Formats: sequence, C-alpha cells, structure tokens
Amino acid sequence: MGSWQAAFDEGRSPDASVPNEQAKRAAAARMAERLRDGDVVGVGSGSTSMLTLDALVARARAEGIAWSALASSHEIELACAKAGVALASLAALRPDWSFDGADEVDPDANLIKGRGGALLREKLVMAASPERYVVIDRSKLVDRLGTHFAVPIEVLPEAVRLVCDALASRGVEAVSLRHGSGKDGPVITERGNYLLDARISDIEPDTEARLKAIPGVVESGLFIGYAPQVVVSG
Ligand code: A5P
Repeated sequence: MGSWQAAFDEGRSPDASVPNEQAKRAAAARMAERLRDGDVVGVGSGSTSMLTLDALVARARAEGIAWSALASSHEIELACAKAGVALASLAALRPDWSFDGADEVDPDANLIKGRGGALLREKLVMAASPERYVVIDRSKLVDRLGTHFAVPIEVLPEAVRLVCDALASRGVEAVSLRHGSGKDGPVITERGNYLLDARISDIEPDTEARLKAIPGVVESGLFIGYAPQVVVSG
C-alpha cells in the first residue's frame, strides 16, 4: 500500500512537464534567499510557485529555518502538507511576504494570472502581503497585458449568462467557458464557481475594477497596481 504522500501524486499526469523549467528553477532559487527564521510566507500557485516552494523547503531544511506558509490553493496546501511545512490561516495571520507566478507581466508589474484556476485565493494572499514578489521566466514578460493570454474571470454559476451578456455589451466578444479534464463539463473552482476566459485587447488601469463591478463576477485574473517585485531568470 502506498503512503498518503504518494497518494497525493498518484493521479497526476505522468507527462506534466514544466515549460522553461531551468529558468524557473533559477528564479526560484533566488527567491528562496529571501527566507528568514520565523517568516509567514504567502505561497502562490502554479509550476513556478511549486519550484519556489521546493527551493524554500530545501533551504529551510539545510539551514534549520522555521517558517510557515499561507497557501493560495489546494494544490499548494497539499504540497506543503507533503513537505511538512506548517500551514497558517489567512483569517488568523498576515504574511510577512509572498511570492507567486504569473502568466503575463507588463513593464509596470501588472499581471494576468489564473491559468491554473487559483486566482481568487492568489489575489487574497497578494493583497494581504506587505512585500510581494512575482517569480517568472522571461517568456512571461509582455509590453501589454493580453498579448498571449485571455483574462480568467471567476463567476457564480447562476450568473454565467448574465456575465457573458455584460462582457458582450462592453465589446468583449471572445469569451469562453473553461472546460477541464478529469471531469465532464466546466471547470469548477475551489469555491464552486465557473471560469470564463475573456480575450481583452485594450486592458486599461481600471479594467480590473470594471470587471469586478459586473454582478456575478467573483474575481478576475487581472492584478493591476499590486506592484510586486519581479524575480526573473532565463
Ligand atoms: C495559477 O492559477 C496561476 O495564476 C499561476 O500562478 C500562473 O498561471 C503561473 O503559472 P506557472 O508558474 O505554471 O507558469
């Protein structure tokens, strides 16, 4: 019989390779240098965050550093549990600092996030953190947000048509409901919502707030004005 730790990995796709892994590992190693004894660290989601978590765990073990994590997703909670990292609650604590990956980063460190569907808790952790980092490889740098990625929008299931109509009335026509694998039908987020992916070509400083103002929108993957420090490699 396998261990509970092995069970956590059992259902993962065997060919889940990480694009630009070496560059992401190099950035992750730089980020791990920030760890201090007693830190509460907000931990983002996605492949770069996982590599950064690995680097933090390795450094903490090697140097006897005690720290705890505020997780931004189930993915990271399970990874922390597996690695023996203490998990803190955002209801009880605020992070000393936080890191996360991103899908796109513009010259002002505005972000598109949410490829992995974890944008809601990611934004809570980033908003709660007084010192923020985004850890990326160079492929994430863009002149303008929306160059490669659609903007993920988490919506209440019963509001999905209302939100699609509201987006269309604002000129956003290229909207798709995200479907997953391992389950028929739409992706259901960690809070029981749907995800829309909206191609928005003219993202402005107020676009995040305008999306959030649509009734039924829970959160979007636009992170405008959070001013994270960008740790980039490759
Ligand atoms: C998770 O939902 C996302 O916001 C990720 O943080 C983002 O997609 C970056 O992921 P990678 O580090 O895997 O590119």
